[in-house]
Amino acid sequence: MEAMGLNDQTSAGRHEWWRHAVTYQIYPRSFADGNGDGVGDLPGITSRLPYLRDLGVDAIWLSPFYRSPQKDHGYDVADYCDVDPLFGSLADADVLLEQAHEVGLKVIVDLVPNHTSDQHPWFRAALAAGPGSPERARYIFRDSADGPPNNWRSVFGGPAWTQVEAGPGEVGQWYLHLFDASQPDLDWRNPEVGDMFVDVLRFWLDRGVDGFRVDVAHGLFKEEGLPDTVTSARKESMVEAPDVEGPMWDQPEVHDVYRRWHEVLAKYDGDRMLVAEAWTPTPESMARYIREDEMSQAFNFAWLLAPWSASAFAEVVTSTLDAVGLVDGTPTWVLSNHDVVRHPTRYGGGEVGLARARAATLAMLALPGSAYLYQGEELGLEQVEVEPEFRQDPSWFRTGEPGRDGCRVPIPWSGETPPYGFGPGTGQPWIPQPATWGPLTVAAEEADPASTISFYRAALATRRTFATSAGDRVELLDRGADVLAFRRGPITVVLNCGSDPVPLPDGEVLMASGPIDYNLPANTAVWVR
Ligand code: NOJ
Repeated sequence: MEAMGLNDQTSAGRHEWWRHAVTYQIYPRSFADGNGDGVGDLPGITSRLPYLRDLGVDAIWLSPFYRSPQKDHGYDVADYCDVDPLFGSLADADVLLEQAHEVGLKVIVDLVPNHTSDQHPWFRAALAAGPGSPERARYIFRDSADGPPNNWRSVFGGPAWTQVEAGPGEVGQWYLHLFDASQPDLDWRNPEVGDMFVDVLRFWLDRGVDGFRVDVAHGLFKEEGLPDTVTSARKESMVEAPDVEGPMWDQPEVHDVYRRWHEVLAKYDGDRMLVAEAWTPTPESMARYIREDEMSQAFNFAWLLAPWSASAFAEVVTSTLDAVGLVDGTPTWVLSNHDVVRHPTRYGGGEVGLARARAATLAMLALPGSAYLYQGEELGLEQVEVEPEFRQDPSWFRTGEPGRDGCRVPIPWSGETPPYGFGPGTGQPWIPQPATWGPLTVAAEEADPASTISFYRAALATRRTFATSAGDRVELLDRGADVLAFRRGPITVVLNCGSDPVPLPDGEVLMASGPIDYNLPANTAVWVR
């Protein structure tokens, strides 16, 4: 069948660590609590670095830990160059970086350039300085006498504009926020903004970070004139499916920003990298972010959005490799993150959902390029139904829909009851954990060779034996409509999305996502050599 692939040369010029890395996303407030206040923190993460090394990942990506009023759990930054006391101190960040490097893990930090917190000194100064001032010109303030300046909606629901208070006899201006009202959008047409972020990049590069995950990378520039959007069918919540088209997304000017950042990173040693969170309409528009002189990678959300279907998975593999091939880029694969429903739940939940999640993960880990894992998926955690009184996602407050808290429940480490060793105390963490998580703790799963964590460890260890040597070529194989099958170098991968067993390919089974016999059962995948 069809063979496709990138430039097959994995050697010259294509040796950077991130091209084949498996990166583990840490959501700091929910990973490990070092001081017992019920919220995860940097010392907690540092104490668990040996766990991550033993899991077998190559890098960690930390969601924001900067100074922030935490209206969007750190994606509302008040100081890009300091650590929020909730998470520790700059000294704690230095220790984390140093110890991560000592155990062989690269560290990617989150950069939030589309908006600041409304508590950032720039926004406070903008409010104080008033209309027409250079301070307001760092954000997108507009006059409008009769309601919001255009029809844009916030990704978190409701209008994307908020009117500020004005002095007597004046009409308050409106400011744009594509997310919460506490996250005013910066005006990237103002050169001061770009200069500020170059300083932020250098601040963290100097401290030794290996890369940046760039938040809302497709959103920085808005179409001149801020015209009304015609994509009226937008969802009220980004949890279901983010809006990707309209005059606020994917504007051509944004690529100049990444060309500049590319130059900044290139001055540093050690293959520093940029990965884009860019929700784009097509694989080709995604690939534009990873042209040779821009970012290193972009999250491949098409893989995450694909339903449980062999043909859907095959279509994503083909279109991804075709698109990144156009720019000679590196593909990425991702199934879960802190914004979406955890994939075992998306695939139906329960035993079937977990079997499918493990199978999709195994298929993903055999594909060329790099993969991103989200904390807790190695335990097979499902989305939690968080009781309304504990919900904190700004989209919940703006829409009344459950929001994203259910994939952000703190990790269970050990013990039979909450907080499952999340921190030193016995108190409830910031979101209560389910009473049923005893068998899903790290300690419980480590003791069980059939557990999801044992499966992840084995898969990651086996992946290391071929990830860099199997080449980037993928040949899709025809094994029937319900089966995704492909060959990459010496490895044949078969993922059974149907309801009946299918024959196993000939050869040595290197890894299976669940029990197999002489056939490959439904909802199961194998690697065969
Ligand atoms: C994407 C982040 O992943 C999400 O958590 C955040 O709410 C928005 N960007 C706004 O920064």
